[in-house]
Amino acid sequence: MSFTEQLAAEVASRRTFAIISHPDAGKTTITEKLLLWGKAIQVAGTVKSRKSDRHATSDWMEMEKQRGISITTSVMQFPYKAATINLLDTPGHEDFSEDTYRTLTAVDSALMVIDGAKGVEDRTIKLMDVCRLRDTPIVSFVNKLDREIRDPIELLDEIESVLKIKCAPVTWPVGSGRDFKGVYHLLEDRYYLYQQGHGSELIADRTIDGLHNPDADATLGDEAANLRDMLELVQGASHEFDLGEFLAGRMTPVFFGTALGNFGVNHVLNGFVDWAPAPLPRKTAQRDVQPTEEVFSGFVFKIQANMDPKHRDRIAFLRVCSGRYEKGVKMQHVRIGKEVRVADALTFLAGERAHLEEAWPGDIIGLHNHGTIQIGDTFTGGEKLQFLGIPHFAPEMFRRVRLKDPLKSKQLQKGLKELSEEGATQVFMPQINNDLILGAVGVLQFDVVAFRLQEEYKVECVYENVNVSTVRWIHCDDERKLAEFRKKAHDQLSLDGGGHLTYLAPSRVNLQIMQERYPDIVFSPTREH
Ligand code: G4P
Repeated sequence: MSFTEQLAAEVASRRTFAIISHPDAGKTTITEKLLLWGKAIQVAGTVKSRKSDRHATSDWMEMEKQRGISITTSVMQFPYKAATINLLDTPGHEDFSEDTYRTLTAVDSALMVIDGAKGVEDRTIKLMDVCRLRDTPIVSFVNKLDREIRDPIELLDEIESVLKIKCAPVTWPVGSGRDFKGVYHLLEDRYYLYQQGHGSELIADRTIDGLHNPDADATLGDEAANLRDMLELVQGASHEFDLGEFLAGRMTPVFFGTALGNFGVNHVLNGFVDWAPAPLPRKTAQRDVQPTEEVFSGFVFKIQANMDPKHRDRIAFLRVCSGRYEKGVKMQHVRIGKEVRVADALTFLAGERAHLEEAWPGDIIGLHNHGTIQIGDTFTGGEKLQFLGIPHFAPEMFRRVRLKDPLKSKQLQKGLKELSEEGATQVFMPQINNDLILGAVGVLQFDVVAFRLQEEYKVECVYENVNVSTVRWIHCDDERKLAEFRKKAHDQLSLDGGGHLTYLAPSRVNLQIMQERYPDIVFSPTREH
C-alpha cells in the first residue's frame, strides 16, 4: 500500500467525538461501557468505582478526587469493528465549560446523552449551542430506560423544540422501568431484547427479526402490540433518518437504552461507525486543510499540568489535522517560528499514557510542554498556517489576587502566566496599577488556580473582590480613533496574558454606553487564539 492509500484508509477509519450531557445523565457510565465495547478495559467498573471513591480513569487531579467532579478533559483511543475511535472526555462541571468548548473544537461529531426521566437540561442546551457553531453532527442516546422515563414521544418533541434539531428515532423502547424489555431497531426491523444483570460484561445480543414476528408477541406479551401501535404514531410524528441532514448538523439519530445495563450502547457505537464523519477538513487563516494532505499539521486545543503526579509535567493536547505523526518527526511550531523534533509524543489508550510511534488525522497526541506551547498553537511540516476557531471566552467572574508573602511576586507572575497559557484562568493587568486580576467562567476555576499556585509554584494567595463585571477585547483599524479611545478609557484598559488590549467593564450598562460612544471600536466577547 502506498503512503497515500494508507493515509486515506487511516483517515476513513477514524471517528473522533466527545460526549455532551448534563451532569448525572450518565456520561461517565456510558464512557465506561464504550471502553468495554472497545475492549479497552476488561471489566466495567474499572473506570468508575464506588461513590466513596468516585473518579474515572480520566480523573486524576487531586482536586477532582476531593470534589468528586471531573475537571479535566482526557482522551481515550480504542478500536471498534474496523474503526479507530477517539473519545474526548469533557469536564462535567459547568465551571470548567471553557475547557469543554475548546474540546468540542477538536472533534468531528458528538454524542448527546439525555436522562430519560429528566429530558433536555440546561447544560445540554449550552453545549448544543457550542456544537452548532461548527454544525457538529450529533448522535443522541436517551439513557436510564431501566427506570421510569418520560413519554419518549414527548422527549423527542422536547429535543426538537428546545435544541432546534430534527430527531430521527433509530431505536424505540419496548416498555420502561421494571417493564423495560428492549428496543426495536427501526432501520434493521429487529427487536433487541434487554437482558438484565449484564451491565459489566459483553454478551451476545438476543434479537427477533421482523416487527410482526409472532415470536415477539410470545416473548414480549402485550408490549409487542403496544409497540406497533406506538410506532405508527412515531412514524407519523418524527423524521426518517437522513444521512445528509445528520452530517449538516440538522438532524440527530436517537437511540434508547441504559448505560448502566450496557444495553443500547453498541447500537450507538454502530451509529458512529456507520454515519459519523471521518476527520473533516479544517479551516486555517490561510486555506482549508484536508485530512488526506500528506504533510503533517495539527493544533493544540488544551494544555494540562500534572497528568500524572509521578511525572509532574505539562502536556499539550494536539489534534492531528493532516498527514502522519511519526516518532522523531520534525515539526514547525508556527507561532514562535521554530522547528522542533518530537520523539516522545504520548497517546492515550483508555487514559493510560503510552509512547506513540505514529498518529493519523483525527487522533489526539500529547506533546511535552516546557512552557513554549500555548492553546491554539499550530504545528505543521513547515508551512505557515494558523488553525482557526479555538476561542477564548470573555470571563464572567473576576478576582484580584493578593499575595500572602509579597516576596513571592515573581513566582506568582510566572505561575499565573503559565496557568493562563494553559487556559486554567485568564489574567488581566490593568494600566492604572500593578494589580493582577483573574477572570474565570466558573468560580471553581479560582479554587483550582489557588490550589495549583500553592502546589506547583509554592505561592499562597488570597482573592479579593474587584469591580469588573465583564471584559471585551478591543480592536480598531483606525489608529487615530484607537489612540483617542485609549486615552479616554485609560482607567478601564488592561492587557491580557497574551498582551492583548482589553476593556474591563465595571458594569453591563457601562459597557453599553462605551459601545455607543465609540462605534468604530470593536468590543469582542471572544478572542481567537
Ligand atoms: P455523569 O458522568 O453524566 O455525571 O453521570 P454518571 O455516569 O456518573 O451517572 C450518574 C448516576 O446515574 C450514577 O448513579 C449512575 O450509576 C446512574 N446511571 C447511569 N446510567 C444509568 C442507567 O442507565 N440506569 C440507571 N438506573 N442509572 C444510571 P449514582 O447513584 O449517582 O452513582 P453510583 O453510586 O451508581 O456510582
